Amino acid sequence: MEIVASRRVQSIGSYAFAEVDREVEKLRQKGITPIDFGVGDPTIPTPEFIRKAAQAGVDRRQSSGYPSYVGALEFREAIAAWTHRRFGVKLDAESEIASSIGAKEAVFHFAEGFVNPGDLVIVPTPGYPPYSRGTLFAEGKVYYVPLLPENGFLIDLDAIPAEVRKKAKLIWINYPNSPSGAVASLDYLHRVVDFGQRNGILVASDEAYSEIYFGPEAPHSILEVAKEGVVVFQSLSKRSAMTCYRVGWLAGDARAISIFKKVKTNIDSGTATFIQDAAIAALADETHVEQSRAEYKFKRDILVGGLARAGLPDCTPQATIYLWQRVPKGMTSVELATRLLSPAVAIVTTPGAWLSDRTESGQNPGMGFVRFALVPSVEKTREAAEKLAALRL
Ligand SMILES: Cc1ncc(COP(=O)(O)O)c(C=O)c1O
Repeated sequence: MEIVASRRVQSIGSYAFAEVDREVEKLRQKGITPIDFGVGDPTIPTPEFIRKAAQAGVDRRQSSGYPSYVGALEFREAIAAWTHRRFGVKLDAESEIASSIGAKEAVFHFAEGFVNPGDLVIVPTPGYPPYSRGTLFAEGKVYYVPLLPENGFLIDLDAIPAEVRKKAKLIWINYPNSPSGAVASLDYLHRVVDFGQRNGILVASDEAYSEIYFGPEAPHSILEVAKEGVVVFQSLSKRSAMTCYRVGWLAGDARAISIFKKVKTNIDSGTATFIQDAAIAALADETHVEQSRAEYKFKRDILVGGLARAGLPDCTPQATIYLWQRVPKGMTSVELATRLLSPAVAIVTTPGAWLSDRTESGQNPGMGFVRFALVPSVEKTREAAEKLAALRL
């Protein structure tokens, strides 16, 4: 019997980080432990009070029971209360919020609810892969829009052709943006809502990095502009260093949330209830978030300093846990990442070309960049900055 992967699975390229992993393994075999700025997985411990809330949640429910598909009302009310405190937006916990198994699950499955075969989905590139993978698995077509430094890494909405607007069902935006670290102004978010409403395109706004910012002003949510025709995706992975807990949510237009809930009840049985307990505790506290913002900012400044001393252009991000560093003239992103992996330097980054897809015009907007995820410790970040400064690129 022949076992053949579906066309959908076959259409997916290899996992970009696997190639980095192979190089890292070669260094390890030489006895070198590289400083790893590759994958964006926080190494800050999950705060103790959050871990304790999860433990208490396990003991509180000795007979397990399935969780709610879309989140216990108590969890959704905690999300509504946080959204109101943080963005001044009132949400109806019953109809305008659904929980998800991390933002990733919801991002990937969202297209299932709205996209018919052949429909277009507008996706930024570079961007989080599940925007396009979810589209492909729903048998939609991806229309990539480039995020370019000359546009402040914002999608140029005016450049989206009329025939694309006509066929598109969804547009993904992601601000604060991974990997560029760009933040969208309220004015820009107004323009996105207007674009969606004029063209009948649902706006899916991934706000997973909204809490990791460095300026005096906290980033806005698109929900401050409108709920109609808008769905926001949120996560506690970066805010509260809870990547392993797998907890996030969607919020916005009740009609879209209702459709997603229908999809969701067919996929899984919801976020574990003790994880929701931990999430409720996390949402009630801002002190740990302020501390982690301060730590990321501290590391950002150390690394930005090292890169500047190496002769590279300034890449100071306004938000997120990433630096999107332009490579020196005449070098590709893979060449710079490979040079940084040489035994004398041993710094792991991700080449921008691997985080970015080609647009219709054949351009890969990640070609000239490498990404640093600010996850190593302060000491390791300092050591890396010194090594970079000595490089003189
Ligand atoms: C842009 C973006 N959105 C969403 C997520 C998913 O977060 P979660 O851990 O909640 O699935 C990530 C994770 O890295 C991300 O980079």
